[in-house]
Amino acid sequence: MSYYQRHVFFCLNQRDNGEACCADHNAKQGFDHCKAEVKRLGLAGKGGVRINKAGCLDRCAGGPVAVVYPEAVWYTFVDQADLDEIITSHLQQGRVVERLVLPDNVGR
Ligand code: FES
Repeated sequence: MSYYQRHVFFCLNQRDNGEACCADHNAKQGFDHCKAEVKRLGLAGKGGVRINKAGCLDRCAGGPVAVVYPEAVWYTFVDQADLDEIITSHLQQGRVVERLVLPDNVGR
């Protein structure tokens, strides 16, 4: 049994050379919202959900991106409502939010 039921990594990478990066698409705001909501809902911690920052995950063209383990489901999101849906559906109920899944062909 794993320490966390689900572990979520948000790319917060910032690039200064003009190339695409998640930080240019409100990744930090999304991370902060998700972290606060998971805590508010009592989902955080051992046996629950862990929300972590990550550097570039090499899927920048789809940014902002986050990946949920152990299912290894990649998401892209636009706003807090998208993240609320991921929290309610996937993190709480184990149902993948298909409309927000990052297509396999999206890379850097
Ligand atoms: S900058 Fe976010 S995946 Fe590369």
